[in-house]
Amino acid sequence: MAEVLRFPEPEPSPEERPVLVLDCGGQYAQLIARRVREARVYSELVPHSISAAEARARRPRAIVLSGGPASVYAAGAPRVDQGLFDLGVPTLGICYGMQLMAQELGGTVERTGVSEFGKTDVRAEPESALFAGLGAEQTGWMSHRDSVTAPPAGARVTAGSPAAPIAAFEDPERGLYGVQFHPEVVHTPHGQEVLKNFLYGVADAPPTWTAAAVIEEQVERIRSQVGSDRVLCALSGGVDSAVAALLVHKAVGDQLVCVFVDHGFLRKDEAAQVVETFEGHFHVPLVHVSAEERFLERLDGVADPEEKRKAVGEEFIRVFEEESKRLGEIRHLVQGTLYSDVIESGGDASVAATIKSHHNVGGLPEDMEMELVEPLRLLFKDEVRRVGEELGLPERMVWRQPFPGPGLAIRIIGEVTRERLEILREADAILQEEIRRAGLYRELWQSFAVLPAIRSVGVQGDERTYGYPVVVRAVTSDDAMTADWARLPYDLLETISSRIVNEVPAVNRVVLDITSKPPSTIEWE
Ligand code: XMP
Repeated sequence: MAEVLRFPEPEPSPEERPVLVLDCGGQYAQLIARRVREARVYSELVPHSISAAEARARRPRAIVLSGGPASVYAAGAPRVDQGLFDLGVPTLGICYGMQLMAQELGGTVERTGVSEFGKTDVRAEPESALFAGLGAEQTGWMSHRDSVTAPPAGARVTAGSPAAPIAAFEDPERGLYGVQFHPEVVHTPHGQEVLKNFLYGVADAPPTWTAAAVIEEQVERIRSQVGSDRVLCALSGGVDSAVAALLVHKAVGDQLVCVFVDHGFLRKDEAAQVVETFEGHFHVPLVHVSAEERFLERLDGVADPEEKRKAVGEEFIRVFEEESKRLGEIRHLVQGTLYSDVIESGGDASVAATIKSHHNVGGLPEDMEMELVEPLRLLFKDEVRRVGEELGLPERMVWRQPFPGPGLAIRIIGEVTRERLEILREADAILQEEIRRAGLYRELWQSFAVLPAIRSVGVQGDERTYGYPVVVRAVTSDDAMTADWARLPYDLLETISSRIVNEVPAVNRVVLDITSKPPSTIEWE
């Protein structure tokens, strides 16, 4: 009888074998997940309450228990299912996570009276799995009051610091590892190597989670979700909707139609770039709605910031609805939801959304009953950018700074008129050009010009002028929750100022906004 040949099992995709990062309440849990991903291993953040059975069902390559502010002995301190330690899955406890392992597995944790905060010398056993290739003298970022005073039964101590003689342990038999310091923060110089030693050396996780792999996986998912249906996407000019649209287009080609509602409040040349990129370069079916006239009319006489935002939002929805109606029945709507949105709403990245579209991202209608296609649901912002680069999106779009939905309309204080829009757009274009020329564009969270509703006296040539000032606003930030005003070099400010007053006739003064957030906001309205 002929031999029966089996098809080879397909390699699991990185997303089918995640590293699960259990969030034990630390501000660093998300950072750990990101660092693991930077090592090209897919990871997801999950609640510490995940059961061993749920964890096993995810087929994790490894488990990481994050740090957290609690004391393992405190009432209500985050605990984990003990069964996790018997799954045979390599597990790394960090800070609180390490202490939790010690406490649960027969070691002890005590408040020894000595705490460690900040950079700390750590003496490591170079032959231990976590410190392989790193040398005995290490620096680790510490933040703890309690200390492990006896490792879990059967575990070996592999590092110590002056105040914490047990700064790391390992039990290779059971796949259990712990470090008291935080390998995920930049203040631990070899932290990423420690994580890599754990991921590659201990957990045998291949570094295969690349932008190309993400694209391949998402294209598959989109195809199976959408089938032969049509898909609608609202393009805004921002990186999220652009990358989401390109992924969907790669997956289902011309079943996708993009609607780009150009409200006329974008920066100079931005609208043209969206059209050129999507229609011209990628040949994505695109409905470009030039609605500047309509939006300006709608804003006629509107000066109050909230009213202005509301007016732009409502008008946007109206235009979008009109256009999508024209396109006939479409069941799927692309949305650029990011992994950070999923985490924030306590959602599960692995669950595909079949909910009503909500108003968050593109400001789309709340009552549109469409099935969402969310190809960025697993990605952090920097990963979206890498995917965008891999897809060939132009640098300008990939690295565009955040830009508010209502655009320049909320950077013109008071009433928005065509004349004032032109003034701001020109001044802003000069500012952008100079910031880019100085190589600062990517370093800044945002940089832009604001046009206040006042005028002041100046003198140009022999003439007295009565013109507008332009405010230069540039901030650094990690997440827009707080921000600091950017210390732009004086030379750069000088160039920006003299170019704006020379090239934009209506402007005779340039001022700099030197307030942080709080108490200010980043935008002026
Ligand atoms: P503020 O001004 O509150 O802004 O410090 C925080 C961040 O949010 C952006 N922003 C918006 N983004 N639609 C958006 O998509 C909006 O209506 C909007 N308003 C503000 C702002 O640019 C900053 O990055």
